[in-house]
Amino acid sequence: MSKVTVVGAGNVGATCANVLAHKDIVNEVVLVDLKGDFAKGKALDSWQQAPIDYYSTKLTGTDKYTATRGSDIVVITAGIPRKPGMSRDDLISTNAKIVTSVTKSILKYTKNPIIIVVSNPLDVMTYAAHKASGLSDKRVFGMAGILDTARYRAFLATELNVSPKDIQAVLMGGHGDTMVPLPRYTTVAGIPVLELIEKDKLKAIVERTKKGGGELVKLMGTSAWYAPGAAAAQMVEAIIKDENRIFPVCAKLNGEYGLKNMFLGVPVKLGKKGIQEVLELKLKAPEKKLLNKSADHVRKVMQVFNKMKV
Ligand code: NAI
Ligand code: 2OP
Repeated sequence: MSKVTVVGAGNVGATCANVLAHKDIVNEVVLVDLKGDFAKGKALDSWQQAPIDYYSTKLTGTDKYTATRGSDIVVITAGIPRKPGMSRDDLISTNAKIVTSVTKSILKYTKNPIIIVVSNPLDVMTYAAHKASGLSDKRVFGMAGILDTARYRAFLATELNVSPKDIQAVLMGGHGDTMVPLPRYTTVAGIPVLELIEKDKLKAIVERTKKGGGELVKLMGTSAWYAPGAAAAQMVEAIIKDENRIFPVCAKLNGEYGLKNMFLGVPVKLGKKGIQEVLELKLKAPEKKLLNKSADHVRKVMQVFNKMKV
């Protein structure tokens, strides 16, 4: 029996629950939202899709945490999304309180869940959830890298006119404009991308990826949800099936890459116990410099959070 709770039944949370149900790999998904019957409605709608799309995962929605009891995995998407003109960091004063209180509410009913944080600013909200939970740092981590890498892969697929399925890539760093896509670790069906694309075109794609979230906020007036929801569901799948998939994940660093006491996007092996291993790539000096710059940025946002004394 496996049970997943998704907190926040808005755009990303409801999408994550729906994608997860379609995978048909868990017995139960509970959607929680503080907006009265909102989660109940979203879950009922998804459950009524089951006879059409053939899945058995039972979906329920609630505004009460008692229903989350005994969850194996909890995905936290609660919080406000950004509006045009805002950065992810502008969300901290509202979302830090929400993520902290949601984490504490979850822990009242489930002693040792795996928690996947999605709320922004992602790296610092993951730090906040870990701090509030008191859980092992192998069991609390954040989703951003799968999404950012998917954007990079999608842009490359369009440029090269190939299937996105064939593009593999590594991207590291914080979930913000300082993220670090790594062309040296990008391949198209095993072929190094640098052999297939002109340098200036690749550079433009790297820059577009870094601002990929903002591009969607400008287009839609709020942030994205299809790819983010699917990315979080893919992490749940890797854990439930104990797949040992290698994904970029926002993980606690304990000296890897010369960084510690912070959460940042790095490649990890993801399985039943959560983060099974952080992979340390042999970065070249310019790549390491970009990673350090991204870490510096995340540290500044962490300081804002620490001063808030949530
Ligand atoms: P949304 O506004 O559609 O949904 C958020 C939901 O959270 C709302 O339904 C709201 O009622 C609920 N909520 C607020 N406080 C709550 C609480 N204390 N307990 C339970 N529910 C609560 O927003 P959307 O688009 O789903 O985004 C959610 C968060 O995810 C935002 O912070 C956004 O910036 C972030 N995000 C992160 C991504 C990533 O890659 N890590 C990608 C996309 C969004
Ligand atoms: C995104 O990258 C805003 O974090 C959100 O779409």
